[in-house]
Amino acid sequence: MLSDKTKEIVKSTSPVLQKHGVAITTRMYERMAEEYPEVKALFANTRDGQAERLASAVLAYSQNIDNLDALQASIESIANKHVGVNVLPEHYPIVGQLLLAAMQDVLGDALNEEVLKAWEEAYSFLADVFINKERQLYSQGA
Ligand code: HEM
Repeated sequence: MLSDKTKEIVKSTSPVLQKHGVAITTRMYERMAEEYPEVKALFANTRDGQAERLASAVLAYSQNIDNLDALQASIESIANKHVGVNVLPEHYPIVGQLLLAAMQDVLGDALNEEVLKAWEEAYSFLADVFINKERQLYSQGA
């Protein structure tokens, strides 16, 4: 479970994510291509606008972190996409590390230790939600 404090901190980053989210996710995919080309290869057939779609999912998460029910439909749909391209549990820490590094690249000093730590926890929580959902879908033969 995420603490109320963590949720509050993540929620407070929504305006910054609204403004810089696409710069962050664009940087994330750039880093992915440089550091994990084999993971970037999963996006080979992805249509344009993936940085925008990820930024908007991250923003929606920050805004609704205290009400995850609001995100269920979108989590379901993203998990189905993931299973379609064979995203696996071991990919999640890589994406998490890249996303946090990209946040640091774009936000610099505006991202203090406390905020970074809250986002680490929040990412890991969401990653577990996806991993469990996707495990279920894979076991159903999706
Ligand atoms: C919490 C972490 C993640 C979030 C919030 C997230 C979010 C998203 C979103 C919003 C989409 C677009 C869905 C759509 O087109 O409707 C997507 C697609 C995709 N994601 Fe993730 N994702 C996460 C983790 C991962 C991981 C770990 C991987 C593995 C490298 C991954 C690989 C992909 C790929 C390859 C697609 C594109 C599917 C296509 O070809 O359209 N994602 N993700």
